[in-house]
Amino acid sequence: MRTVDLILKKKAGQKLTREEIDFLIGGTVGGSIPDYQISAFLMAVCFRGMDEEETTDLTRAMRDSGQIVRLEGIRGVKIDKHSTGGVGDKTTLVAGPLAAACGLKVAKMSGRGLGHTGGTLDKMESIPGVRIDLTQEEFVRQVNEHGIAVIGQTGDLVPADKKLYAMRDATGTVDSIPLIAASIMSKKLAVLNDVLVLDVKFGKGAFMQTLELGRQLARSMVDIGRGMGLSTAALLTDMDRPLGRAVGNAMEVREAIDCLKGKGPSDLEELAVAICAEHLVMGGVAADREAASKLLKQKLASGEAYAKFVEFITAQGGSEKALDDMPRAPHEHAFPSPDSGYVGAIDCLAVGHAAMLLGAGRETKESTIDHAVGLLVDKRLGDPVERGEPLVRLHYADARRRDAAAAALAGAFRIDSARPSPGPVVHEVIRP
Ligand code: URA
Repeated sequence: MRTVDLILKKKAGQKLTREEIDFLIGGTVGGSIPDYQISAFLMAVCFRGMDEEETTDLTRAMRDSGQIVRLEGIRGVKIDKHSTGGVGDKTTLVAGPLAAACGLKVAKMSGRGLGHTGGTLDKMESIPGVRIDLTQEEFVRQVNEHGIAVIGQTGDLVPADKKLYAMRDATGTVDSIPLIAASIMSKKLAVLNDVLVLDVKFGKGAFMQTLELGRQLARSMVDIGRGMGLSTAALLTDMDRPLGRAVGNAMEVREAIDCLKGKGPSDLEELAVAICAEHLVMGGVAADREAASKLLKQKLASGEAYAKFVEFITAQGGSEKALDDMPRAPHEHAFPSPDSGYVGAIDCLAVGHAAMLLGAGRETKESTIDHAVGLLVDKRLGDPVERGEPLVRLHYADARRRDAAAAALAGAFRIDSARPSPGPVVHEVIRP
């Protein structure tokens, strides 16, 4: 087989076989295919696409390029969730304990935040004492004893994605649905869970800017899951507004706790319940989504979900008392509304960017973050506001960072004279 022939084949819009895709991925990881040929192949995929079978073959080849985490020794139905990344997205901290409180097993490997989106590990590390570097034995034991553990990625999972992603970043080939779907799903499939629920965000603050693109990505990932024997569903959720009010690590943990106590923002609760309802039905715990939602709301109202959260973070080195000791930023600054009216649109990307500038997120992988800082969105989509009233409150430590964040927020809120009616957070659910 010659790489150039496979590039030509894809360039002509023809379908690649499983053997050909295995050859390309093997050569990419093994180093026998030079970077310029990998780049040409990626560009051909960008323009010509891949069908469902090719995308599944690509995902399998990528997954098999590295270690597979079998989660051996964990008893029960193992579930996973993945978000394509949003602003203020603290859903794992709510949905994880909720699912565990219903008897499912949450053995989660999470990531750190980059750019305007946050990561679960960073949020967890704002709780004093919490460790995210459990050994494999500790991880399995904790999941068996407490139903949930969250750690950073261990081992050499999907080296093909590391190589391909770096090339895509440098060659303008990130925005291809088959390449994105294979990248995400190869990493999810490298950990052998039983059920996966994907939260595919669309809108200004998301990777996929429109509902239609989000739908295509969701469909592709659900199809890959089906092709590889993993029960997968995908929610299409709105990222044209931050999720909840808090953006920033410790602040988001506090909001997640409010939600676990049944006192959180309605959009966060709606999303966490919708994700868990899919888990419960696919995991065989509930007969249908209605029964699942009822059970989940009970777990929130009864305090069981919060108790599970405390159990989980205590098992990982924190405590309930440590939740009170999470860091708080020393200063607060109100960002005023330029007009009176209703909040008609929010530029979520700008809000996420402002939080990053305050120090809550990473500009590059090497940046350090301040767990205390962040912002609270006072006025949400559809809320009435008077000129001069705070739209956002910045919680900051450094005045220069505050000024940069405030500048990023200029124009981020559109104030309309008529009241808009914000739609639901969960637009649709894609199932196999
Ligand atoms: N996230 C991923 O993991 N991969 C992509 O290609 C895009 C987003």
